[in-house]
Amino acid sequence: MTAFDLLIRGGSVFTDGESRDCDIGIAGGRITSLGIGLSGANTVDARGKLVLPGGIDSHCHVEQLSSMGIMCADDFYSASVAAAFGGTTTIIPFCAQHRGDSLAAVLADYHEKARAKAVVDYGFHLIIANPDGPTLDADLPAAIASGVRSFKIFMTYDRMRLHDEQILDVMAAARRDGALVMVHAENHGMISWLAGRMLEQGNALPRYHAICHTRGSEAEAIQRVVALAELMDCPILIVHVSTAEGIEAIRRARARGLRVLGETCPQYLFLTAKDIDRGLEGAMFCCSPPPRDEAAQAACWEGLKDGALHVYSSDHAPYRYDATGKLPKGAQTTFKEMANGVPGLELRLPLLFSEGYRKGRLTLREFVDLGSTRHAQTYGIYPQKGAIEIGSDADLAIWDPDKRVRVSASMLHDNTGYTPYAGRELTGWPVTVLSRGEIIVHEGKLDAARGRGRYLARAPSDALRPAGRQVPEMAQLAEWNTPLKL
Ligand code: URP
Ligand code: ZN
Ligand code: ZN
Repeated sequence: MTAFDLLIRGGSVFTDGESRDCDIGIAGGRITSLGIGLSGANTVDARGKLVLPGGIDSHCHVEQLSSMGIMCADDFYSASVAAAFGGTTTIIPFCAQHRGDSLAAVLADYHEKARAKAVVDYGFHLIIANPDGPTLDADLPAAIASGVRSFKIFMTYDRMRLHDEQILDVMAAARRDGALVMVHAENHGMISWLAGRMLEQGNALPRYHAICHTRGSEAEAIQRVVALAELMDCPILIVHVSTAEGIEAIRRARARGLRVLGETCPQYLFLTAKDIDRGLEGAMFCCSPPPRDEAAQAACWEGLKDGALHVYSSDHAPYRYDATGKLPKGAQTTFKEMANGVPGLELRLPLLFSEGYRKGRLTLREFVDLGSTRHAQTYGIYPQKGAIEIGSDADLAIWDPDKRVRVSASMLHDNTGYTPYAGRELTGWPVTVLSRGEIIVHEGKLDAARGRGRYLARAPSDALRPAGRQVPEMAQLAEWNTPLKL
């Protein structure tokens, strides 16, 4: 009788920070053995392949209503299938509170949607747009206790943004109850002032979206939220950073000992504002912040290398190029009316593997860290996820490092109907993907029941620990001297 349910034989396995040739024994959905010459009846031949921890995408929007009331194109089934085909075995999407919503009701709703449909494991972040008493004092602590240990706030978007005092309230609650504050950092006034003028002048095409979301608006908002976080001694993670100026602001904060993490996404490494400059079709490339220029792309690569950017996520925000998404008013839709966001769940890792690892910009370790391990560590699911270690879930992506793929929308599994990366030639692809020891994707075929994915209640992580750099004035506040729940 064999001790293993499944054996991954002969691959180059990424474990403990490096690759080594070994077999992986799997039993009960977990990795139970790493060694040479393991034997078992059910085997996957991984010779010539790289066996890496399954990817973790900690920034994606699934079955989410935008602030403008537009439902994104993917539900938990299509999004998680797309993730699996792209080598991602855990997703952490957002449960979005809109103004007036009860946070508890929002969370219950997303649980129900995901439970029935997800094919990979998932956690949740919250989006807080209504930081009133019931939200901050009852619903949020309950959500955190149920394992939702992070939430996003917005400094822009008419119906989502919080003003500085609200941000401070949210930070105080996060610090008190042990959660990470993720920030969409863009200066609202700068963007909407410019957009108003552009529209008055009849400039309504998507290209003006990129023009209005200036680089300075990102840098200003990052600097301001860093100052707020310093006052509160509250760790923050700036999502979807797109500019050299923004990255530099994060570097400066980190150099001063503040706990500020950064994230970037494929659209800031592989697209530029020129992609948006193609008439109405530019809408397919519109997201906030927008793609910039080659210099900004280079700054993002540098930020990934030196740690100013800590994680690489998709910010998958799928909206179809039709009246349900990008073009609610057809050809008359202005850049202010189209849904913001681009798809990227499935191509996130193949793009980084090909253009980062295969082109020598990143080491394999950096690729694994940025696409998987650091997400697990930051969001409290490590080493269950994000590692190939004894005891970890057998969530694995087996990559053929030489497989050449020409990207097209029709090969992808999300419901967006287009990809901003069409026509690109990539080298390397995750040919076999396992979730908790089950082969869910193999050679282009899915074998995963709807709803097999499990909810991940996340634990407190080191990323939540305040720096302990108290701004002296805060010591005057009695509540500030109570111990933290970490
Ligand atoms: O344009 C974007 N990024 N849309 C998704 C929502 C967000 O701000 O992340
Ligand atoms: Zn955002
Ligand atoms: Zn997003």
